[in-house]
Amino acid sequence: LNRSYHEKVIDHYENPRNVGSLDKNDPNVGTGVVGAPACGDVMKLQIKVDDNGRIIDAKFKTFGCGSAIASSSLATEWVKGKQIDWAKTIKNDDIAKELSLPPVKLHCSMLAQDAIQAALNDYQKKKTQRDSAEKK
Ligand code: FES
Repeated sequence: LNRSYHEKVIDHYENPRNVGSLDKNDPNVGTGVVGAPACGDVMKLQIKVDDNGRIIDAKFKTFGCGSAIASSSLATEWVKGKQIDWAKTIKNDDIAKELSLPPVKLHCSMLAQDAIQAALNDYQKKKTQRDSAEKK
């Protein structure tokens, strides 16, 4: 293992960014909860989006290993301030590369990618429902 694996993972593990929850009933909040069948770890990731499609806040809670916590912490840092279209393109490879995760820990970064997608889908679903309700 190279040094940056230790440094970056441990840094995010010890000082996780954006831990917490957003109000899941807020129409501008998307919530994603995903689990890894391999290990049973669970990750909740939430985003709050403004009217221009910009992610203005992101929070997570991860009940899992250090790499999963580091992956979700990094993911929330990345999506904050970005457009939802950009957030959709985040791949677990990008997270794994940034944290220099070893192969056995790749599914931990996959959990973060899945959690972002799930949060985006939830937000999109709410928005579609809202938009169609407004049209009626
Ligand atoms: Fe399962 Fe890391 S060991 S998420």
